[in-house]
Amino acid sequence: MRIAVVGAGYVGLVTGTCLAESGNDVSCVDTDAGKIERLQRGEVPIYEPGLEELVRRNQREGRLRFGTDLAQAVGRAKVVFLAVGTPEGEDGDAELRHVIEAAEEVARAVKHYTVVATKSTVPVGTAGRIQEIMGRRARFEVDVVSNPEFLKEGAALEDFQRPDRVVVGAGSDRARRIMRELYAPFVRTERPILFMEPRSAEMVKYAANAMLATRISFMNDIALLCEKVGADAEQVRRGVGADTRIGYPFLFPGIGYGGSCFPKDVKALLATGRRHGVDLDLLRAVEKTNERQKRHLLSRAVRHFGDLAGRVFGVWGLAFKPRTDDMREAPSVEVIEGLLGKGARVQAYDPVAMERARRRFGERVTFAPGPYEALEGADALFVVTEWSEFRNPDFDRMKALLRAPVVFDGRNVFDPEEMREQGFSYFCVGRTAAGAR
Ligand code: UDX
Repeated sequence: MRIAVVGAGYVGLVTGTCLAESGNDVSCVDTDAGKIERLQRGEVPIYEPGLEELVRRNQREGRLRFGTDLAQAVGRAKVVFLAVGTPEGEDGDAELRHVIEAAEEVARAVKHYTVVATKSTVPVGTAGRIQEIMGRRARFEVDVVSNPEFLKEGAALEDFQRPDRVVVGAGSDRARRIMRELYAPFVRTERPILFMEPRSAEMVKYAANAMLATRISFMNDIALLCEKVGADAEQVRRGVGADTRIGYPFLFPGIGYGGSCFPKDVKALLATGRRHGVDLDLLRAVEKTNERQKRHLLSRAVRHFGDLAGRVFGVWGLAFKPRTDDMREAPSVEVIEGLLGKGARVQAYDPVAMERARRRFGERVTFAPGPYEALEGADALFVVTEWSEFRNPDFDRMKALLRAPVVFDGRNVFDPEEMREQGFSYFCVGRTAAGAR
């Protein structure tokens, strides 16, 4: 099938590449000519395991092209995916300017019956708005469908190729048939393709992300309480997750959720609630808990050291989670800004996100070439992202480098009992060593 993908960002690139990999003829277009030139050379501007190899192979085999000519790509496509960015707008709702502009351009460019599928996370009702634009501007019939993505950064290829479900909000049988054919290689009986009304599909995306964010904030609240009552949040997590009605995923307490989706989608859903006079109290609390959580370790450090001015802190991890270089809404930003604001110095290390972090912090942060260099002469270590290379460090080397053996761990990567035995003052989330209680 001939496919056009508008927007060669994270979602567009993964969608286009995976659809090329399943045998379709895919053109990805973007207005950023520099980005397109790099992609044409086979350079992928984002860090996503396995993506660059897949892009190159499909380019070589002629199924995947990159360009800036939207009209040409759309004119030959049967399905056009809109995967342009939806940054946070002024009132917290998703900013639709790029989506609407792209839709207008697509409308002018269609040359036969076309399915236009929205991949960008858009407020409920947007597919309807785009359908209206098509009705006004397109010279051929267009069906607009909502096809939200549920990709996790760092596991995006796997998520696209083996999805829990594919959600398609479509109003016509013709569009449903085309979408079913397109996704057939990725869905089997146990991986359903769920057809519904476009508005419901749009809501699914927000509701799913809000639910996951709720689980995380809930566990962060429970973890705080565990600290107070002397329970162990990790044991509690296991006990709670074992209930099949609850399940294990997304119950890890930590330093708060970040990334390009949860914070933005929670805000956007709250804005939708406000617009329709529905008070989403629970979701407001989810957001409030997350803000508190991002400051949790910092307040522990203040409690431990008192004044932080003049102190030096090593920071392990800058990305909002492992296996990505993405720093959008990363808790590391809150931690580092907090430390700098209190007059401390920061020596940070991340396996892949340092280039981005350098753009964000410039000279204000020292970037270390490795995890141990970040500890040289530091008063304590903050673990902010749970990269697997941080999980089994050389504790003796750490102790030799740190001025005092103090660790603030926002991701519970170490065992409190072992840390106590090693002689560390160890602060994590919801856990205390049994021997220290
Ligand atoms: C998320 C959704 O999972 C995905 O379906 C959607 O399409 C986009 O948003 P992503 O932002 O890539 O994906 O990251 P995810 O792995 O979901 O983690 C989000 C945040 O929650 C991270 O900051 C992570 O550290 C945090 N998290 C996750 C926890 O604090 N605890 C958990 O148990 C799980």
